[in-house]
Amino acid sequence: AGATGESLRTPIVAVLGHVDHGKTTLLDKIRGSAVSEGEAGAITQHIGATAVPLETVSNMAGSLVDPTDFDLPGLLFIDTPGHHSFSTLRARGGALADIAVLVVDVNDGFQPQTVEAIDILRRTGTPFIVAANKVDTTPGWNAQEGSPIKQTYEAQSDRARSMLDENLYEVIGNLSDEGFSADLYWRVQNFQKNIGVVPLSAITGEGIPDLLAVLMGLSQRYMKEEMAVDISGPGKGTVLEVKEEKGFGATLDVVLYDGTVREGDTVVVGGTNEPIVTEVRALLQPRPNAEIRTEKRFDKVDSVAAAAGVKIAAPDLDEAMAGAPVRVVRGRERDAVVEEVRKEL
Ligand code: GTP
Ligand code: MG
Repeated sequence: AGATGESLRTPIVAVLGHVDHGKTTLLDKIRGSAVSEGEAGAITQHIGATAVPLETVSNMAGSLVDPTDFDLPGLLFIDTPGHHSFSTLRARGGALADIAVLVVDVNDGFQPQTVEAIDILRRTGTPFIVAANKVDTTPGWNAQEGSPIKQTYEAQSDRARSMLDENLYEVIGNLSDEGFSADLYWRVQNFQKNIGVVPLSAITGEGIPDLLAVLMGLSQRYMKEEMAVDISGPGKGTVLEVKEEKGFGATLDVVLYDGTVREGDTVVVGGTNEPIVTEVRALLQPRPNAEIRTEKRFDKVDSVAAAAGVKIAAPDLDEAMAGAPVRVVRGRERDAVVEEVRKEL
C-alpha cells in the first residue's frame, strides 16, 4: 500500500440491471445481510448505499485479492431498482457511479431494463463489468460455496458446463449487439476496450471473489487518478431520500461523491420551491457494510469524506427533495453555491 492510502477517494460502484436479476441479493452476499428478504415482493424501490471496507472485500475474495496490493479504502456500492417504473432512480444511480456492475440473470438473459441500464452507462461514459448471475440455477449444478469461478466450473459435469457456456455466450452476444466487445473476464486483457463477463451466483457466492478482484483491479489501475483527488474540500452530494428521524425531524440520506462535510458546515440543498440554506447539526454514518436504506443504528461523527453514504440532520429540511444536489458552502460565496444548486434542479 502506498503512503497516499488515506487520501484516495472511495470508488462508487453502481449495481444496475433488470428487475429480479439479483442486484440486492449480490450486495447482501457481499455485506453479509438480508436486505432483499425484507423487501415487499423482493422489489427494490429506492437507491441504496453501502460502504464495504477493503478488509471485507479481501476476506470475501480470498486469494484473489491481496489487500496489500491496494490503497483504496474499499468500495461504496449503490443499489438501484430494476422495476421498469423506477427509471429516474436508475439514471440517478448511474450518474453517481465511477464504475458499474450490470447484473444479468444467465437464464433470463438481456431484458428491457438491462438494455436501459446499458444506455445509461453509455450516456454517462461509465466503465462497467457484467455479473452473469444465478449460475447455480443451471440444471445439475454442483455448488461450491464461495469459491472462485474457475474452481467451481471445473467441479461441474460436462452437461452443466455446456449449458452454462451456452447461456454465457448468449450474454456475450447480447453485449455485442449493443456495440460492446465482450468476453469472459479472464480472457480480457484491456478492460477499457472490452467488457469482462463474470459468471457468479449471489446465493452460493461462487464467482464473487472474481467479481471483487476485477472491481478492485479496475478501480486501482484505471481510475487511480480520478480517485487521487483532494477530498478535504467542500463536500458535494446527492440526496437519496428525505426521512423523518426521531429527535431530528426531517433528515437527508446522502451519497457524498466529492469532498468533505463537517458538523456545523453551512450546506445548500435543493428544495421543492427553492434551494434551502441550513447548517449541519449532526452527521450520522451507517456502520461499515450496512445499507443506509435499512440501517437503524448510526454512528455520530464529526466529518465524513467522499465517497460515503451519510445521514445529514439539519433544521428546515422538510422541503428537501430526493435527487437534489447538496453542496457544502465552506470557504465559498454562499450565493454562488445557491445559484449552483438552483441550476441543477
Ligand atoms: P430489484 O431490486 O427489484 O430490481 O431486484 P434485484 O435485482 O435486486 O433482485 P433480488 O436480489 O431481490 O433477487 C430476486 C430474486 O432472485 C430473489 O428471490 C433472490 O433470492 C433470487 N436470486 C438472486 N440471485 C440469485 C442467485 O444467484 N441464485 C438463485 N438461485 N437465486 C437468486
Ligand atoms: Mg433489488
